[in-house]
Amino acid sequence: MNRLWASVAVVIASALSSAHAADAAHGSALYHAVCVSCHGDPPLGGPETATSPASLRNALNTVSSMSFLRNMYSDADLADIFAWLQSLNTNPPPPPPVVASIPGALSGLWYNAGESGWGVHFTQRGTNVFAAWYTYDTSGNPKWYVSTCAMPAGTTGTTGTCAGQLFEVTGPRFFGVIFDSRLVNAVAAGNLQVAFQNADNASMTYTGVAGQTRTVAIVRQPLAAGTTPPAVNYTDIWWNPNESGWGIAATQQSGDLLRTTGPAFGPTFNSSQVQVFTAGTVSVNFTDANNGVLNYTVNGVPSSKLITRQVF
Ligand code: HEC
Repeated sequence: MNRLWASVAVVIASALSSAHAADAAHGSALYHAVCVSCHGDPPLGGPETATSPASLRNALNTVSSMSFLRNMYSDADLADIFAWLQSLNTNPPPPPPVVASIPGALSGLWYNAGESGWGVHFTQRGTNVFAAWYTYDTSGNPKWYVSTCAMPAGTTGTTGTCAGQLFEVTGPRFFGVIFDSRLVNAVAAGNLQVAFQNADNASMTYTGVAGQTRTVAIVRQPLAAGTTPPAVNYTDIWWNPNESGWGIAATQQSGDLLRTTGPAFGPTFNSSQVQVFTAGTVSVNFTDANNGVLNYTVNGVPSSKLITRQVF
């Protein structure tokens, strides 16, 4: 008895395997030879609603304008056409996850706690540490310097000394107007050298800036402590490539948009003279790990700009 059941099972199995294996490529050829002339590609007006090869047969048999096709197709042909139609419905593979272009571990906001009011934002990529240094001129207005501070070739990790030329950057008005990159100006102003002991401690030396040479200890500026870090680290410099000349040095922070004034930088920097004015509000909606929308309201005027990581 057992043997009989076994041989029956084999017969059924071989019957199944000899059944027509639908060939979507052949189905596509058949569809594009005839059906496409009325239904187009992608198929519309009927074929896309087919639920089985039998439903195609039924369509040919019942729709009068397709009556001339009734005897043209075998069941195998219709199975192939159906297989091709089905292949169109399978969902496209999900897009690959966005990989964040996260900069190196030295990136972030640094300052000297005894001279709170000026600071420097570093963005480390490869052997370059881009420095955006904010301080004040003799009349107390914000003054910006930037430097592409280069580490010796082959440097990895968070220990090493970078050196680069410092540029004083000025530009056109940002708020309330269309930004004009052509008015951005960078003037060589001196040299920067930063000796990083580790990811949190460094010694910054500038020479030739307004006739000064100075070495000052800097540390990573502590921000909100104890909060769970988000999945993506957004610390970086962000910009809009169409509006080169302004950018955002983000250190996982948002909130009030502040306008600061303060004493001229130098060894006598007096933090108590730094004044902070609320200028409006700012927020960034990150649309993925590398892109965002900067929303800000200054003087009651809301505005927004697309920003992306400045990858160099
Ligand atoms: C001469 C034009 C023409 C050609 C060629 C044609 N069709 Fe159609 N087809 C139609 C029309 C007209 C309808 C009815 C549309 C409606 O009712 O809105 C239709 C409807 C259908 C439907 C839906 C039937 C239903 O009951 O809803 C299917 C499935 C279909 N066609 C499949 C095919 C396939 C497969 C081919 C090729 C083998 C083909 N058609 C070729 C004109 C054509």
